[in-house]
Amino acid sequence: MNCVWLPFAIWKQRSWLVTIILLLLLLLLRHLTRNEILKINSGEKLFSRQQKITLTRSLAKQWAARKSGLEKQGRPSVVFLKTHKTGSSTVQNILFRAGERRNLTVAFPRYSYQFAYPERFSGDFVEDLPPGAAHFNLLCSHMRLDAGEVQAVMAPQTIFLTILRDPVQTFESVFHYYRNIVPAFQLLYNHSSPLLAFLEASSQYYDAQDVSNGLARNPMTFDLGLNASREAAPSSQWASELERLNQTFQLVMLAEHFDESLLLARELLGLDMEELVYVRLNVRHKESSPLAKEMGQKIQAWNWFDVQLYRFFQSVFWRKVEHYGYVRMKRELDAFRALRQKTVARCLAGGPVGPEIMADDLRPWQPGSVTILGYNLRQNLTSAQYRDCFRMVLPELQYHAYLYYRQYGRNMRPLPTT
Ligand SMILES: *[C@@H]1O[C@H](CO)[C@@H](O)[C@H](O)[C@H]1NC(C)=O
Ligand SMILES: *[C@@H]1O[C@H](CO)[C@@H](O)[C@H](O)[C@H]1NC(C)=O
Ligand SMILES: *[C@@H]1O[C@H](CO)[C@@H](O)[C@H](O)[C@H]1NC(C)=O
Ligand SMILES: *[C@@H]1O[C@H](CO)[C@@H](O)[C@H](O)[C@H]1NC(C)=O
Ligand SMILES: *[C@@H]1O[C@H](CO)[C@@H](O)[C@H](O)[C@H]1NC(C)=O
Repeated sequence: MNCVWLPFAIWKQRSWLVTIILLLLLLLLRHLTRNEILKINSGEKLFSRQQKITLTRSLAKQWAARKSGLEKQGRPSVVFLKTHKTGSSTVQNILFRAGERRNLTVAFPRYSYQFAYPERFSGDFVEDLPPGAAHFNLLCSHMRLDAGEVQAVMAPQTIFLTILRDPVQTFESVFHYYRNIVPAFQLLYNHSSPLLAFLEASSQYYDAQDVSNGLARNPMTFDLGLNASREAAPSSQWASELERLNQTFQLVMLAEHFDESLLLARELLGLDMEELVYVRLNVRHKESSPLAKEMGQKIQAWNWFDVQLYRFFQSVFWRKVEHYGYVRMKRELDAFRALRQKTVARCLAGGPVGPEIMADDLRPWQPGSVTILGYNLRQNLTSAQYRDCFRMVLPELQYHAYLYYRQYGRNMRPLPTT
């Protein structure tokens, strides 16, 4: 009986009906607005510039509120796979600074500055936890990746990051930097155009069985722990290896889009924009002219896996930027670059300089094959400015040794003599 009378009863309570209709309209409106914001975010031209700015601002606020919440839950836990000759020293410096500021427990190699490279990573290569710590929160020294072994020494839910660079530039840089270290390159030490000679007769110099030659072919793929010494050949296994890497790494940065990469990392790790300010570290003095096109093609052919790897993560990267929002990215890039320029100008006494005219504690390690540049600080910095500027230009080995001492209250172990 009641059912029959229900519509009539509602009709009698018109004020209720009006309320319900208004509520439904409100929900619809909210839904539409959100869709519009998402469209703006993907770069569609729907609104005027001013509207766009207002909308993206509100979106940025939503995002900031959602921002992984790492800081709130406790300490972030971060692994940065430091690939060779890709701009990774600069990223490491940013992470060292962020880690120092937050008292993160850093996973250091038991000996020296690298995790027994080029061996595949093992938990045994890591220095003991300092008293009172349950996990490590930051790991960013050179290694050859074994993601499972790495995760086992880190706090749960660790964020994995790495950086890739155009394979031609990477290989050229690796070749010249490691000319007297990697066996395949050592053989060409006295050659007048060694890179060309190597590429034209690589089989003469390159022994795939020698793990010390890991960097001599597909260096980035090698650092990521894959087997890339074989002849170039597409395989289904390779595709699944890329998928696996994509699942391991929340972010793969690109050296060619360094600032964009940092902004993506900033959101992931919950860093302040000031903490991203950097100077390029471990850069070499370049005498040579840009590579000839044919040389580039030879390098690509030799490093087939690196080329595929880079292409794959290029597309992953741009999808991340799209998701982040082009308008937002552009706005933050402008703000960041202005901030960086201001900070760097305040800190530095000039551009990069050679090791002979540099303060001892700021001089980067010299591999002997190329000259690595560094920076001098302004003389008139306040002590607070000096503290921050000093860390920004501090080369890897010095910063590593300093953080090790800070964490353990003793100097790094000497290498065992065997
Ligand atoms: C880091 O440790 C120092 C010394 O123990 C302490 O003064 C500082 O407040 C700590 N900072 C953070 C962010 O925990
Ligand atoms: C390069 O030249 C030096 C001096 O001429 C020589 O001692 C060295 O053995 C040469 N190295 C190679 C790999 O040929
Ligand atoms: C690479 O090869 C080694 C031995 O040749 C093997 O143990 C390892 O599982 C391989 N790794 C991958 C990722 O294929
Ligand atoms: C890579 O992983 C992300 C999730 O982190 C996913 O959205 C994307 O579709 C993956 N890309 C490829 C090409 O597998
Ligand atoms: C330091 O010196 C530079 C010029 O050498 C000047 O532009 C700058 O304002 C000075 N900074 C301070 C804090 O005095």
